[in-house]
Amino acid sequence: MSNSFLIFSSVLFAAFLGLSFIQVTKIYDPEHHGDHHGKVVYGFPVPETVSADAEEEFMTPIAVRLAGANPALGPKHAAKCTTCHAFEQGGAAKLGPALWGIVGRDIASAEGFAYSGALMGIDGAWDAQALDGFLLKPKAWAPGTKMGYAGLKDDADRANLIAWMFQQADAPVALPEPSAEDLAAVEAHQASGEH
Ligand code: HEC
Repeated sequence: MSNSFLIFSSVLFAAFLGLSFIQVTKIYDPEHHGDHHGKVVYGFPVPETVSADAEEEFMTPIAVRLAGANPALGPKHAAKCTTCHAFEQGGAAKLGPALWGIVGRDIASAEGFAYSGALMGIDGAWDAQALDGFLLKPKAWAPGTKMGYAGLKDDADRANLIAWMFQQADAPVALPEPSAEDLAAVEAHQASGEH
């Protein structure tokens, strides 16, 4: 047996030990008490990482978040937007278009505003779902947008802001009702034991 093969084998074995250790600690870590996805096969833990990751990324559907949102907290978050946007009735465009009556308005349709091709290329009107996606990560939802804003990461904060934006209109649009799928998704998530 050559020396280099021995070195190779021991490195491999060390890596294997390291990986096993990581997996064992992950499964028995009290922080992960809700994680029942790992199973043990012949003494070796086999975490089902795909479903575990999906759980971590669960986002309560926007219609459900809106039902529990507090629009009175909207202005606090809108303060991050007002360098570029006017929200009030009759407000003029600044760096970004005026946002009075934005809910239900066609995307990129403010008269006279020079939108990016990115935003103009997106069909449809601003509803709760579109606003939630855009405001989470503007540059991911509308690649190439010229809105220079990184995004509002907290799902509850975004819902409070959007609930308030629904009210900033001559004839406010009603909040969307959670669909059967929305409620089923929340129920399945709760049943999975995650928080
Ligand atoms: C640094 C300036 C800036 C900030 C901060 C900013 N925006 Fe914008 N926003 C823009 C620009 C510029 C556009 C036009 C984007 C394009 O054409 O790609 C835009 C577009 C939009 C649109 C689409 C409007 C339409 O007519 O289709 C919405 C909705 C919007 N912003 C909401 C917000 C909200 C809510 C915030 C705060 C959480 C915010 N923006 C923060 C500059 C900004």
